[in-house]
Amino acid sequence: MHSNEIRSRFLAFFKARGHAVLPSAPLVPQNDPSVLFTTAGMQPLVPYLLGQTHPAGVRLCNVQKCVRTGDLDDIGDNRHLSFFEMMGNWSLGDYFKKEAISWSYEFLTSKEEGLGLDPQRLYVTVFEGNEDAGEDTEAQEIWKSLGVPESRIYKLGVDDNWWSPGENGPCGPDSEMFYDLTDAGMGELSKEEFLSAVSREDLVEIWNDVFMEYEKKDGKVVGKLAKKNVDTGAGLERITAVMQGKKTAYDTDLFAPLFAKIAELAKEDTVSAKRIVADHIRSSVFMISDGVLPANSARGYILRRLLRRAVRYSDMLGMPAGSLSVLAQVVIEQYTTAHPDLATQKQTIVKEIEGEETKFRQTLERGMKEFERGEDPFVLFTTYGFPFELTLELAKEIGREIDVADFTAKMKLHQDSSRTASAGMFKGGLANHNEKTLRLHTAHHLLLAALQEVLGPSVVQKGSNITEERLRIDFAFDRKMTDEEKKKVEDIVNQKITESLPVCKKEMPKEEAQSLGAQMEFGAKYGDVVSVYFIGNPDQTAFSKEFCGGPHVNNTNELGTFKIQKEEASSAGIRRIKAVLE
Ligand code: ALA
Repeated sequence: MHSNEIRSRFLAFFKARGHAVLPSAPLVPQNDPSVLFTTAGMQPLVPYLLGQTHPAGVRLCNVQKCVRTGDLDDIGDNRHLSFFEMMGNWSLGDYFKKEAISWSYEFLTSKEEGLGLDPQRLYVTVFEGNEDAGEDTEAQEIWKSLGVPESRIYKLGVDDNWWSPGENGPCGPDSEMFYDLTDAGMGELSKEEFLSAVSREDLVEIWNDVFMEYEKKDGKVVGKLAKKNVDTGAGLERITAVMQGKKTAYDTDLFAPLFAKIAELAKEDTVSAKRIVADHIRSSVFMISDGVLPANSARGYILRRLLRRAVRYSDMLGMPAGSLSVLAQVVIEQYTTAHPDLATQKQTIVKEIEGEETKFRQTLERGMKEFERGEDPFVLFTTYGFPFELTLELAKEIGREIDVADFTAKMKLHQDSSRTASAGMFKGGLANHNEKTLRLHTAHHLLLAALQEVLGPSVVQKGSNITEERLRIDFAFDRKMTDEEKKKVEDIVNQKITESLPVCKKEMPKEEAQSLGAQMEFGAKYGDVVSVYFIGNPDQTAFSKEFCGGPHVNNTNELGTFKIQKEEASSAGIRRIKAVLE
């Protein structure tokens, strides 16, 4: 089934059940300063979910464009996309669980009006209950009445089955639907087997029904809303992949025209680079069509980053300069039926993308020459506009050491001495970026030590990545962590932060470091003399000891509050945690 048909079947199905079909709201939220971009179908509807009367009625549906750019460096794998469309239906105090679940089921399985998916491959989850709301037995009963056996209904906690758009707003327990993508079909699964199939991506989540009857303020559920609402979301890209028998949306008709054009233009055939270019160009086209222009602050900066990354990856693929605007036209053509704004904005979109590519190429050319001459990263940035993150990436490619602390210090001085008009978010954010990165780096060491304490010494680090917003660690472990385990790890890290432990570095022969039990990152190569960071006493008794070049904060009391945002599978036998400091 073509993605166009999936969209139109979805809207027709809910229209036939009394829903008004709304156009997609713009990607730039109209009256919501809390987010830069629309990240879910419900976002433009928040005032109505909180009780305001919607002019189109109490039953609504649409296909909403969404952008999520929190994790640009994850893009290129099977799952992450910065732009996607979310199909959704809403009840504003009208129908509730029975209709919502029954219609989800009917749309998924009906051959006539829906997708005709195999009910034998469907699995669902419901909320297990906590102090805010009880176990969702009602949702379980409804699923059972539709013929879903109890053995395929799993009860999970807040991390999986409670949905809210952020720290504030309407929220509630939800029920998620998963589809089995394996050739043979997996049949009955225990809860552990179910969770592990989800981690392996043999089961994919295809729809989420949220029963929004609660409200959150500052991260806490503060009570019930005046009305019981329904908010559902089904990712078009995921469903299209399922319908077309693919493991990833990149292999569906949604990306086919772009990849065909990329193949025409490119000399190399690197899958992740092609995906990054395709993903970023889709987001950029839609952002510009909604009025975002490349700039050094806020939304414009995100767009600029996407376009500049797209330029770099198109270069890696050997595509000729100017290719991005050619790709943009492919996106415009493909999506104009579903999103007519694109056609009217075509000239602006093409012109902006061309302009940004040209500008960035000039910057790159000048900066690259200076980089090759060994110019200081600070000069590269301030004089040549050469992004520091690019310096770091290039340096890594050729094994050159970059002194991050030195750059940070110079940036700080620079800003203190010249708070010029150009010190927008681009430059200002960067100094900040490095302070935040420093703190997250130290938290990363605490986290690894805490994971080993809770899950056992076999937990070794397999990868890591730190951005301004969050840290990410990949580690060897063969199952999902329980909520209790995550809580324990968080508590330990926060305890160490409260203890105000010193962080210090010692140079020593590698053998000595190993005999102290310092952690080495798997696969990393170290010289004879290594530097080891200790958190706590600088000896064997330290809470954390890791081979590391730094830099770090001086004391754990500089960190703030540590919080795990997500724990998920990264690949077979490897888990990934994303965490923040608040
Ligand atoms: N708002 C819900 C989600 O994004 C449906 O998953």
